Amino acid sequence: MPVTLAFDVYGTLINTHGVVEALHTHVGDKAEAFSQTWRDKQLEYAFRRGLMQHYENFAVCTKDALNYTCEFHRAPLTEAQKHLLLAEYRVLPPFEDVREGLALLSGGGNRLFAFSNGSTEAVTTLLSSAGILDAFLGVVSVDDLKSFKPNPAVYCHFLRVSGASAGDAWLVSSNPFDVIGAVSAGMKAAWLKRSPEALFDPWDVEPTITISSLIELEERIARYLSRGT
Ligand code: 2OP
Repeated sequence: MPVTLAFDVYGTLINTHGVVEALHTHVGDKAEAFSQTWRDKQLEYAFRRGLMQHYENFAVCTKDALNYTCEFHRAPLTEAQKHLLLAEYRVLPPFEDVREGLALLSGGGNRLFAFSNGSTEAVTTLLSSAGILDAFLGVVSVDDLKSFKPNPAVYCHFLRVSGASAGDAWLVSSNPFDVIGAVSAGMKAAWLKRSPEALFDPWDVEPTITISSLIELEERIARYLSRGT
């Protein structure tokens, strides 16, 4: 039975650590640690801005997090270098399993949406440069509400815009906080655990299903719908 799917973007479809290669030019062997701090701070800033009700869009969280990360790693980049890195961030690469996984899901008649903390403009640019924009019926951005995941209001916003009901809509995300947010808002959620080392938060909320690649998703949802596993 076709379902409505809300694909998280940064970290799920698009590899935020795709910037590591460019970072090597600017910060040498600190590149990997720098990329991790940058991503962690970007999310922390989004959480905090959401809680404080002091919204600035996700690109601002990304820029502020880059400035913090330069200080933290004692890597004094010039404004021109930061500009180059932020430009890279707008055209990050997709993960390897994404094109095939999306093709299988679209072929099954499912309704695919991108659903992100990023603005509609930033997400459209990203998916278009990754060559996967056409797989989606639309982009749903938290920017419409001026808040961030995991505010329950943004998951309700997705349901409203997509016209799906909570029980029939699936979030697909590698980010445990996003999966917990969606399940808490009544949606189903597939946790995409690409790395065996990835950890899920030990709360009292579990993903509906856990997959290791997007290529499994179509079959796993069909199995869940027929057998509940
Ligand atoms: C996204 O919403 C959470 O960064 C993730 O795209």
